[in-house]
Amino acid sequence: MPAALPTHVHLVDVGPRDGLQNEKQPVATEYKVGLVLRLQAAGVRDIEVTSFVSPKWVPQMADNVAVMAGIERAPGVRYHVLVPNMKGFEAALPTRPDEVVVFGAASEAFSQRNINCSVEQSIERFRPVAEAALAAGLKVRGAISTALGCPYQGEVSADEVERVVRLMKGIGVQHVGIADTIGVGTPRRVQRAIERALRHYPIDEVSGHFHDTYGQALANIYACLEIGVAHFDTSVAGLGGCPYAKGATGNVATEDVVFMLEGLGIATGIDLDALVDAGAYISGVLGRAPISRAGKALLARRGKSEVAAA
Ligand code: HMG
Ligand code: MG
Repeated sequence: MPAALPTHVHLVDVGPRDGLQNEKQPVATEYKVGLVLRLQAAGVRDIEVTSFVSPKWVPQMADNVAVMAGIERAPGVRYHVLVPNMKGFEAALPTRPDEVVVFGAASEAFSQRNINCSVEQSIERFRPVAEAALAAGLKVRGAISTALGCPYQGEVSADEVERVVRLMKGIGVQHVGIADTIGVGTPRRVQRAIERALRHYPIDEVSGHFHDTYGQALANIYACLEIGVAHFDTSVAGLGGCPYAKGATGNVATEDVVFMLEGLGIATGIDLDALVDAGAYISGVLGRAPISRAGKALLARRGKSEVAAA
């Protein structure tokens, strides 16, 4: 008899941050704010809004303060932001985030390319961030990139993942996200990486963040559900990518994940129809069709029923 799956899953929609950070064309602040508004209207309760990184490195996130000022906060919704160092934290704090995300990597090569320092140095930069955030009453999450493979180093071992999990735990990070930056993970390998995090964190403080480059993300999420993990980062319309991981495509689409979870009888609190609207909105802003398969199918079905009703 297979183990029971979780009955409720928590999704962080990372679309406004991960989804848009890699867009080459500037996306106006009002559309980022509009996306956050639509996500919360769809019932998304955790939204990764922006990042406080160098605008020279990631120009798309340069309007971080304006986006945080522009969002209309809804009760029960938690707003997350990425911060790589104290400079980012000091800029982020007055914008009243609920959760800050420090982002490290399991591979040394990716750490150097993404945040310009070694893994150990990154932890020393995160240490005061975690201390200050906890003192300010904010939750601190740690993202561990390249946990299933690195565009520069290649293979990444579960030992390398566990090393960073342990380092993050040591500085007070409260939740760790195992991130497959380039989407090369497959279900059993994902379970092994996640299990290393579970040696140090309780099940509710471990999440999966899967880019869908090789089409494995839904299978990987199912593999996580099988071992009881119920927290995932997903991105509306399947947007996303990292400027420092060439060729890596979007995150798993929130619409696809919600569709699968609904089919499994697992609650998310998200209204799929309204989510599809949010995906269509931002895809329209970007001038392309949603990458989400479920989003496209549901939009096509609507089109047909509108024709039938006419
Ligand atoms: P650095 O050049 O090593 O930093 O960059 P520095 O301390 O030497 O400072 C250099 C300049 O940057 C200075 O400005 C600082 O003021 C400025 P200058 O004097 O030259 O004018 N600076 C900052 N400006 C704004 N905000 C800051 C900040 N810090 C320094 N926080 C740094 C280090 C981390 C800042 C840089 O490498 C950077 O911004 N990298 C961007 C990394 C990034 O955003 N990557 C994408 C997000 S991670 C991701 O997508 C993965 C994830 O989704 C999980 C997954 O899928 O794997 C989370
Ligand atoms: Mg990512």
